[in-house]
Amino acid sequence: MNESIFILKGNIVYSKSQTELAICEHGYLVCREGKVEGVYQTLPFRLGGTPIRDYGDCLIIPGLVDLHVHAPQYSFRGLGMDMELLEWLETNTFPEEAKFEDIDYAEKSYKIFADNLRRSATARACIFATVHRPATLLLMDMLEKAGLATMVGKVNMDRNCPEYLCEETSESAEETLEWIKDVNHRKYASTRPILTPRFTPSCTDELMEELKKIQMRYELPLQSHLSENQSEIEWVKELCPWSEFYGDAYDRFGLFGADCPTIMAHCVYSGDKEIARMKENGVFIAHCPESNMNLASGIAPVRKYLEEGLNVGLGSDVAGGTTENMFRCMAHAIQASKLRWRIQDERLEALTAEEVFYMATKGGGAFFGKAGSFEEGYEFDAVVLDDVRLAHPQPLDIRSRLERLIYLADEREIRAKYVNGGEIDLS
Ligand code: GUN
Ligand code: FE
Repeated sequence: MNESIFILKGNIVYSKSQTELAICEHGYLVCREGKVEGVYQTLPFRLGGTPIRDYGDCLIIPGLVDLHVHAPQYSFRGLGMDMELLEWLETNTFPEEAKFEDIDYAEKSYKIFADNLRRSATARACIFATVHRPATLLLMDMLEKAGLATMVGKVNMDRNCPEYLCEETSESAEETLEWIKDVNHRKYASTRPILTPRFTPSCTDELMEELKKIQMRYELPLQSHLSENQSEIEWVKELCPWSEFYGDAYDRFGLFGADCPTIMAHCVYSGDKEIARMKENGVFIAHCPESNMNLASGIAPVRKYLEEGLNVGLGSDVAGGTTENMFRCMAHAIQASKLRWRIQDERLEALTAEEVFYMATKGGGAFFGKAGSFEEGYEFDAVVLDDVRLAHPQPLDIRSRLERLIYLADEREIRAKYVNGGEIDLS
C-alpha cells in the first residue's frame, strides 16, 4: 500500500445491484488503509487536506475480476480454434502445457502473461497454471510482484492425459502438499493457492479423496470445469456411473461449494438438479462466453442463473478465449445471450450492460470477499478509464460512456489502476 489515505476524483461508476448502476459525477472516492471508505459528491470537511488525484473527466470503475483463466495457454491464444473441447485439449493444450516442465520456457511465457494481465483492467483473477510445481511458484512470484490479487492453482491430473503430463495419484497429492508449503513460506500479500483438479475426466476418485483431505487441512478454495461440452458430460457419466449429474461427481468428494468455496467454469449444460445443488452449495459459476463460442461448446443460460440467485462472474478462459481483456468478455456475454435468446430459447432475455458489468465486478469479486464495488469496506481496486480516443460528436452521459467502453475499450483507455489501495505500474 502506497499511502494510508488518498482520494481519487472523477466520474465514479459501480454496481448498486445486478440491474442498477451507482453513478457519482465528478465525485470523490476515498481509500483508507487499502479499503474503500466512501464515495462522496462533496468532499466531507474532515477529509480536507487529504491528497487528491484528480482524473478530470475520466470514468473510475472497480477493478475487473476474471474468474477463470489458464496462464500457460496464453501463448497459443488465437491458434487452433477449429476443434471442440476434447480434441482441442489433446491437440493444442496438453502439448503446450507440457513445456512448463522447463522453467526457462515457463519464465518466458509467464512473463508475457503477467505483464499483459498487469496492464489490463483486471485487478483480480483465478488462474490455472500447469501440473508443474516450480513453474506454478514462478507464476505466483510474478503475479505478486505485479501487485495483482490472484488465486493460482497447480493443476492436478492423474488419468486420461498423455503420459508426458500425467501424474501418479500419490505424486499429484504430494506435489500439491509441497506446493502449498512452499506458498506458505513465501508469505505473499495478495497471491493465494487454490486447489485445481483440472476436471473430472482427468482426476481419479482416489485423487479427489486426497484433494479433499488437503482442502480441509489448509481450508483451501477450489476451481474446476463443469458441464462445458456434451461429449465431456457423456464421458463423466461413463467414468462416474454412480453420479447423479456431473456436479455430483465433485460433490461426492466434498469439492463442490459446501465447506469449500468453489468456482466451476462454464456450466453451459447444467440441468435443474445441478443448478439446485450449485445454489444450495453457493458454487460460483464462471461464465466464459468467448471460449464457449470458439470451442463451439454452446451458450450458457446465464439469465436463468441470475434469476435463480446463483453466484455468477465472468471468465476469459484464455486460450479457449483469445483475450485477457475483460471488456471483450462483457461484450461477448451480451452478444452470446442475444443469439441464445433468438435461436435457442426466447424465454431467457438477453443480458444488459448493467448485468455484465455487475458480473465482471461485484458478481465475480464476491469470490474474493468484499471486492468489485466501491461500497464502504470493500477492497480498494479501481480502474481509471480515459475515453478521449473514442471520440464522439456529442456529449454523452456517464451510463452511455460506460456502455461504449464495454464494447470498445482495451488497455489504451486505462489511465491508472489500483489493487488493494496500491497503484499498479502500467508501463
Ligand atoms: N476442461 C478441462 N481442461 C480445460 C481447459 O484447459 N480449457 C477449457 N476450456 N476446458 C477445459
Ligand atoms: Fe478453462
